[in-house]
Amino acid sequence: MQPYSLRRHLTYWLIGPLLLLVTAGSFVSYRIALSAANKAYDSALLDPVLAIASHLRHTASRLELDLPSIAIEALRIDTEDHVYYQVLGSGGELIAGTPRLPPPPERLDPDEHVFYDARLEGQRVRVAARAVKVGTGTAIVQVAETLVKRDKLVLELLLASTAPQLLIAFAAVALLWLSIGQGLRPLDRLRQEIAARSPRDLRPVPEQDKPQEVRPLVGALNGLLFRLNAAIGSQQRFIANAAHQLRTPLAGLKTHAELARRQPSTQELKSLLDMIAGETQRTGHLVNQLLTLARAEPGEAASGGQPVNLHEIISRDLRDWVQRAVGKNIDLGFELEDAWTLGEPLLLRELVANLLDNALAYTQAGGSVTVRTGVRDGESVIEVEDNGPGIPETEREKVFERFYRIAATGGEGCGLGLSIVSEIAGRHSGRTELSQPPGGGGTLIRAVFPRLAAQAAQIALPLSTRTVPTSR
Ligand SMILES: Nc1ncnc2c1ncn2[C@@H]1O[C@H](COP(=O)(O)OP(=O)(O)OP(=O)(O)O)[C@@H](O)[C@H]1O
Ligand SMILES: [Mg+2]
Repeated sequence: MQPYSLRRHLTYWLIGPLLLLVTAGSFVSYRIALSAANKAYDSALLDPVLAIASHLRHTASRLELDLPSIAIEALRIDTEDHVYYQVLGSGGELIAGTPRLPPPPERLDPDEHVFYDARLEGQRVRVAARAVKVGTGTAIVQVAETLVKRDKLVLELLLASTAPQLLIAFAAVALLWLSIGQGLRPLDRLRQEIAARSPRDLRPVPEQDKPQEVRPLVGALNGLLFRLNAAIGSQQRFIANAAHQLRTPLAGLKTHAELARRQPSTQELKSLLDMIAGETQRTGHLVNQLLTLARAEPGEAASGGQPVNLHEIISRDLRDWVQRAVGKNIDLGFELEDAWTLGEPLLLRELVANLLDNALAYTQAGGSVTVRTGVRDGESVIEVEDNGPGIPETEREKVFERFYRIAATGGEGCGLGLSIVSEIAGRHSGRTELSQPPGGGGTLIRAVFPRLAAQAAQIALPLSTRTVPTSR
């Protein structure tokens, strides 16, 4: 079933009354045309009546038509119509002409005439009848003609008046059709505006540039966006608060487990305490990841960001990462170039931390990991490349889902790291790309951000700009 269409509905609504109007107009035109045609031809029909009347003679005994048949034939000549005549005596007796014409519909006084419609041998005819005083009696002279040329004239007049009416009606419908399309354009623009939004953009849709009729719709939509924003915000605050509340008892649990391990105890008790310490550690990590995720999500008020050099973001935690790499015998290299973007340094550090954490966690001992920053194709990027086990093609989308871990993966993760990475990239109007390093084998993850020109960044933040040479 076709969906309800405003354009079709309004067009049908217009077509109905317009057709009625055109029909009524045509009927009026028909009446006017008929009367015009009769007026034009009736007086001409009276001429042969008068001609015949002037040749009526009253002889001693009876009334006679004193006209040679050739003259009568001349009167009857007509290129399109058949013409008939009839002369009746005062008693109604036929004096000359055809007997088949009906008598006039009304009584006529002498020298009075009348025009009327009648039928003759199945044909419609127009008749002119006149009463003529001849001697002491009154004769009736009638001339009838078929309606061929009258019908033609009526048809012509009717067409001449109806055709423009129909044209105007068609034009009105076409104009309406077009103007509805034109009128609905703002709705289409609104649709595009909403469709082009990222799911994290819950700002109200501007109302000022919308037509009056569309504003209530935009207003209602904005109301919904506002409530949605509030709902998401409260949900995130809940998660953040819950995670925050969990931190303190977890820290206590950890301390107590450590203390308990130092007490003299049996082997079984020791291994149980080791398990408790490990689980506490993992729960602590989960709580931290949840907190980071809650902070990175769109509902949290975005500060708009400040100019950030990705190069510096990495430099800050460099030492920690090197230590961890050395501990696992992984060759960790840095190829850092300036790359500016607008962002929140804390969140960007979390992003890098999660990428590097994965690379160092999943790459085998003896492997190598490289971190790069720089500008590629006019965008600022952070790249982390390793030569570890890699992520199979079929898993590349799923690993960005929350709590998803590839089945065979060992280690302590909870499956939130890459979700955090993509949330933070999205919050900075960026994106993530997962591929295999050009050499094959391993993983290459790239976070791409809109580039902020270095000049703009330096004007905005002159004190913090410095360039650190590329190091390996
Ligand atoms: N560099 C990598 N090499 C190989 N596999 C990876 C790499 N990075 C991620 N993965 C795979 O993707 C999965 C999801 O990674 P993600 O960082 O989201 O979760 P996690 O590391 O398991 O947990 P978390 O980071 O929250 O502690 C990992 O479980 C792992 O299987
Ligand atoms: Mg991870």
